[in-house]
Amino acid sequence: MPTTPDDPGSAPRREVFGRLADGTEVHRWTLARGGTVLKVLSYGGIVQTLERPDRAGHPANVSLGFDTLAPYTTDSPYFGALIGRYGNRVARGRFTLDGTEHRLPVNDGPNTLHGGDDGWDRRVWHAEPSGAHGLTLRLTSPDGDQGFPGALAVEVDYLLGEAGELRIDYRATTDAPTVVNLTNHLYFNLGGEGGGGIGDHRLGLAAAHYTPVDGTLIPTGEIAPVADTPFDFRRAKPVGRDLRTAHPQLLRAQGYDHNFVLDKGVTAAPEHAATLYDPASGRLMTVATTEPALQFYSGNFLDGTLTGPSGRTYRQGDALCLETQHFPDSPNHPAFPSTVLRPGETYTSSTVYAFAVR
Ligand code: GLA
Repeated sequence: MPTTPDDPGSAPRREVFGRLADGTEVHRWTLARGGTVLKVLSYGGIVQTLERPDRAGHPANVSLGFDTLAPYTTDSPYFGALIGRYGNRVARGRFTLDGTEHRLPVNDGPNTLHGGDDGWDRRVWHAEPSGAHGLTLRLTSPDGDQGFPGALAVEVDYLLGEAGELRIDYRATTDAPTVVNLTNHLYFNLGGEGGGGIGDHRLGLAAAHYTPVDGTLIPTGEIAPVADTPFDFRRAKPVGRDLRTAHPQLLRAQGYDHNFVLDKGVTAAPEHAATLYDPASGRLMTVATTEPALQFYSGNFLDGTLTGPSGRTYRQGDALCLETQHFPDSPNHPAFPSTVLRPGETYTSSTVYAFAVR
């Protein structure tokens, strides 16, 4: 089985990718190892390119994005971005912690999505190489940033392993009690970006339960079994197989946009969460994480208005996201695994995307 080309990789290299309106230079870092080429922007910590070979050895970028900076600052639906301080939704932009109510900007109907309208996906991170095949991004988020309490010091490592696997490690500390839920918003198309839909991709999710949502995509609080529903991915199946089922939850989100409760729960080391296989190219990806859940989003809101580096537009279902995370709206659901971080504690989260061909 031709999996990893004999590729020892090369040291991280930096180039200028563009400039923000205020003149700030944005860099693009390139890391290569084990058949993977990873390009990361200092803006948003965005994965701009993730290249992997197909079964014939031909490389393609398997993540959606743009080839210039400008659309990332105006139009991006979080392509490849680091999401903070709170990935996914907080209902009505408010939560109470230790008796104090905090208000967040609402940017998704009545709710706060992905940390607010000026989330970390729009910040310039400080980036520097760490080790031969890693990059560390750092950000200081002041007390009150997007309404969240506590000054946060954040570090994210992008690391390429010997077989070209991408590991993302997140760490954060705070000077006051707060909530944290970090993720990366990669959009995957294992056939290559711009190459069509992901309906034939086989997705497997190690989740016997998911969290049904209300009309604004906030969890109702129910932890529902996936058995006998379109949400059952315990045996891998084509994403498109049940996508058009008139299930009330699929109607609500215009497809899959749901939090799957991983059977393994929170773990100290990354454990298996998902597999994704594209029979046409032979590319196979597995996802392992320390997180207790994963948002599976089937690219429902891509509408043909954005153009990727391939020069082709992105339409509904042209990619999917597997956002490892704690549950949406946890600050308002005491029964969900806690997202509270207190002074003296360190928030940690790790996710590994590993690749092969079949
Ligand atoms: C997440 C959300 C989706 C959507 C995308 C970006 O996956 O759950 O509803 O907002 O981000 O468009």
